[in-house]
Amino acid sequence: MRCKITNEKINPFMSFGRMPIANGFINEKNFKKEFFFNLEVGFSKKISLFQLNNHPKPKQMFNQNYPFFSGSSKGMIKHFKNFSKWIKKKYGKNLKNLIDIGSNDGTFLNNFKNNKINVIGFEPSKNVAQVSKKRGIKTINKFFNYQNVKKFKSLKKKIDIISAANAICHIPNLKSLIKGLDYLLKDDGLFIFEEPYLGSMYEKTSYDQIYDEHIFMFSVSSIKKIFNLFGFELINAIPQKTHGGSMRYVVSRINKRKINQNVKKIIRFEKKKNVDNFEGCIKFKKNCEKSKEKLLMKIKKLKNKNKKIVGYAATSKSTTILNYCNIGKDSIDYICDTTKEKIGKYSPGKHIPIKSMNHFYNNPPDVAFLFAWNHKKEIFKKEKKFSQKGDWIAHVKL
Ligand code: SAH
Ligand code: TMP
Repeated sequence: MRCKITNEKINPFMSFGRMPIANGFINEKNFKKEFFFNLEVGFSKKISLFQLNNHPKPKQMFNQNYPFFSGSSKGMIKHFKNFSKWIKKKYGKNLKNLIDIGSNDGTFLNNFKNNKINVIGFEPSKNVAQVSKKRGIKTINKFFNYQNVKKFKSLKKKIDIISAANAICHIPNLKSLIKGLDYLLKDDGLFIFEEPYLGSMYEKTSYDQIYDEHIFMFSVSSIKKIFNLFGFELINAIPQKTHGGSMRYVVSRINKRKINQNVKKIIRFEKKKNVDNFEGCIKFKKNCEKSKEKLLMKIKKLKNKNKKIVGYAATSKSTTILNYCNIGKDSIDYICDTTKEKIGKYSPGKHIPIKSMNHFYNNPPDVAFLFAWNHKKEIFKKEKKFSQKGDWIAHVKL
């Protein structure tokens, strides 16, 4: 494989095996047509970039049937409110034009309503873009890349802030993305984005962060190195609790802004913890293998005791756990979820039925496998009744 940025040759160091589209919840009639690919990861030593080898084409994943809605988690709605407040407080003084990449159903941009800030979302998945449009948010139903961006000549060098959350790691052609940023951003404009953090994935062995949509797992070291290649620099990095550990990055053109001490501090931490080098990958691989073994043992023990296990939340991440560990219907009766687009369908690859929350309340299991472990606080709060009788398990520490 080759690094998607530097083109250097790299050897994939780990395969999670034959994998379907993580968000490809499927109807029974399509089981035979299901798409699979080999989910392999590699690491660019030059720019410390953890990345997938093969992956499906973006249009296979982001289309009119994208089943993830940012608004499906109360915790994330609250987070996006705070994120928008932070932006307004820190950079609001001269903020006129803001573009959000991967704006989804508009949960983040909705917080800029009633302000004198023009906001535009770039969102390629038509169904979620439509929800955002219905909320009155200007949404361009296109992939953010240089090709598409340069058609908007009136926006050239007019944008103060380009934001994104959990979207940049979804974009394989980062060079085209950065060219697009360069086209749109004012001379002193900022690119502010949050992504799942490689350091947190290593710490928790939360390998379920690895799936087709997550082409990259970023770290402060990698973001600094990537942007330096293209005339930009990382000026701040702030850890976030969301999605099991994320990082907020602030990037500007080179020599335009003061660099916050956080950057140096976190880079030092990453060196110490081997987040910026290949040693970290090898340790992670071993930890994944151990984690898989432990999980399979746990499930086997429960099944030997005739315990009924169901999945809680049909997350995209669960596709990696179920397929990598080869866990199917014989172990997990069904997966409950709040998303109406998923209910009635089957989980990608393993074809476990997706059921409504009512089904969960009417057919409670002995044990619930918490696939949305990143929303633990919110879920435990509302599932107190189940917790009185049933047990929770997960592949990570809860
Ligand atoms: N920002 C939201 C959505 C994250 S899901 C949140 O944090 O909750 C990732 C989103 O990125 C999806 O809605 C997907 O359609 C979108 N996306 C994927 N590739 C993109 C691209 N090239 N440009 C803009 N958005 C993209
Ligand atoms: P993710 O944000 O980790 O991808 O998880 C989102 C999925 O989890 C989505 O399908 C909705 C589901 N979910 C529930 O079913 N119940 C909940 O309480 C929460 C927070 C999410």
